Amino acid sequence: MANQGIEISLAGKVALITGAARGLGAEIAATFSRAGAAVMIADILDDQGRQTAAAIQANGGRAAFIRQDVTREADWETAVAETVRQLGGLDIVVNNAGIEICALVENTELKDFQRILDINVTGVFLGLKAACKAMKPGGAAGRGGAIINLSSVAGLRGFSGLSAYCGSKGAVKLLTKAAAVEFGFMNYGIRVNSIHPGLIPTDMGNAVLKGFVAAGLGKDAATVQQAFERGTPLGMKGAPSDIAKAALFLASDQSPWVTGAELVVDGGTTAT
Ligand SMILES: NC(=O)c1ccc[n+]([C@@H]2O[C@H](COP(=O)([O-])OP(=O)(O)OC[C@H]3O[C@@H](n4cnc5c(N)ncnc54)[C@H](O)[C@@H]3O)[C@@H](O)[C@H]2O)c1
Repeated sequence: MANQGIEISLAGKVALITGAARGLGAEIAATFSRAGAAVMIADILDDQGRQTAAAIQANGGRAAFIRQDVTREADWETAVAETVRQLGGLDIVVNNAGIEICALVENTELKDFQRILDINVTGVFLGLKAACKAMKPGGAAGRGGAIINLSSVAGLRGFSGLSAYCGSKGAVKLLTKAAAVEFGFMNYGIRVNSIHPGLIPTDMGNAVLKGFVAAGLGKDAATVQQAFERGTPLGMKGAPSDIAKAALFLASDQSPWVTGAELVVDGGTTAT
């Protein structure tokens, strides 16, 4: 019998990915490109963002870079307009840009709490708004599509030392569901889902391990890593590619009836 496996394709689609200069965003961009999408790399890191776009082009993909601070509405309008102008449409938006801070509640500065909400929550809200206006029928792109928001396991349960981050990622989870319900009932043809990664070794993932130690929650990074290991049924083997493959499914036409869902990719951590 012929191979009847389903290959996930994004051929003909255009994706805008925030915070895509490095880490999970860069991996999602490279994966989407291999699946056939044109990708706009958006970030505040100019040099790294340009390098990420150039690496995708060197592999034969269509990619461009735009400087975008996700907390600025004007940057969103420009990023969406430039994606449509340079790459010919907008079918997928990945709200991936984010930051973390690690501190006990009593030691968390108000300005740090507000900054994490600004980037992790306001940034996603502005992304939903700009993407919806462009992707809905009659919008600048106008052919519907998929929005994927990066939440976290920290948006599903509490962690000592991560109150600000947990608060922000919990908000992303419900922003996602509200937009999914609204865009669905409005017949916009736009699906909205969240991904909830466990700890993945990126700049942020590595900073979290060090942050727990600095906050007095572990003797050293190795001890913290061991604690994560004990709480993870499949072991701490998560890689950026695990998150990119989940995003690929949610971005593609293989998930046409999936909206408002929480796709947890954490080796079983939150199932314990
Ligand atoms: N790595 C993990 O363990 C992990 C786990 C769960 C969730 N996440 C989430 O996944 C997403 C990506 O994380 P990562 O590990 O790749 O982090 P990272 O720090 O490696 O990359 C984040 C990117 O976001 C960009 N960014 C930060 N502020 C920005 C702003 N105001 N405007 C535009 N871009 C901005 C950074 O420049 C950077 O390129 C984040 O939302 C994070 O919270 C990560």
